[in-house]
Amino acid sequence: MSDPILSFTDVSYRYPDGTNALNNCSLTIRRGTRTAVLGANGAGKTTMFLHLNGILRPTGGHVQWEETPLDYSRRGMRELRSRVGLVFQNPDSQLFSASVREDVSFGPMNLGLVKEIVRERVAEALLAVGMAESADKPVHNLSYGQKKRVCIAGVLAMQPEVLVLDEPMAGLDAAMQTELTAVLERLHASGMTVIIATHDLDFAYGWADEVIVLQSGELLAHGLPAEILQQEDVQDELGAAPLVAEITRTLSLIGIDLRDKGYLPRSKNELLKAITALSRQEKTS
Ligand SMILES: Nc1ncnc2c1ncn2[C@@H]1O[C@H](COP(=O)(O)OP(=O)(O)OP(=O)(O)O)[C@@H](O)[C@H]1O
Ligand SMILES: [Mg+2]
Repeated sequence: MSDPILSFTDVSYRYPDGTNALNNCSLTIRRGTRTAVLGANGAGKTTMFLHLNGILRPTGGHVQWEETPLDYSRRGMRELRSRVGLVFQNPDSQLFSASVREDVSFGPMNLGLVKEIVRERVAEALLAVGMAESADKPVHNLSYGQKKRVCIAGVLAMQPEVLVLDEPMAGLDAAMQTELTAVLERLHASGMTVIIATHDLDFAYGWADEVIVLQSGELLAHGLPAEILQQEDVQDELGAAPLVAEITRTLSLIGIDLRDKGYLPRSKNELLKAITALSRQEKTS
């Protein structure tokens, strides 16, 4: 197992109006892993994410970078935010510059990088999200999905160690979702730690190394997707199970046990491959 990169120790957070959004959450995210954070509306996902880069400070417990509690001084926050890039759920909370290029340049410029490097990083980031041709467009003229892509580019251009994305797929078209999944795979392969809040259980099941399930501000479950998303209490809380997991279970009920045959499909493609391989074996035996 890799080393802890970010962890919560008994973190609670109460908003100024008295809402308890997080209650005694303890968890560890390890370097280089892909984590999906799940939970119903209002479960505390966004509140949790705002703690990961110090926008919110726990009202109880503490957040650690590696093994050290966060330093909430200006300097400490500047350092943390160069390491932890957060893409907000709502793009309008994040975008503020006139043009796409200016917006994406803002983060890397603040890191004090030379102009040439900033230009390179911005071009790379815009290419990664398919927005290179819109670099000179005014941000306020973009569609919702395009704004989301620009927000993601803005954080990618910072080249953080941890990428935290709050419902990044929501509002993106199917092609862009596939494209973004590929971008995330490349980032993960290059060693980045990626944390995503999502309501898409099929995506979480196929993509994540670990899932975290929040329930009314409490940690309901944390572990391997194949284990956690089969738990009854988790399925009850989320109101569903991943489709591939349900099909695998149904097949086992009619005597086709993919697990027994060594298959544990986590995506539609893996499931189709497993079924095809099994039917070939049947025919040749
Ligand atoms: N600024 C705020 N002031 C008071 N209460 C808030 C504030 N922001 C969020 N909350 C409350 O905190 C709780 C957790 O909200 P949060 O936005 O973290 O949930 P979420 O899991 O991200 O939900 P969603 O799936 O809808 O994005 C909710 O009860 C919400 O009403
Ligand atoms: Mg949210």
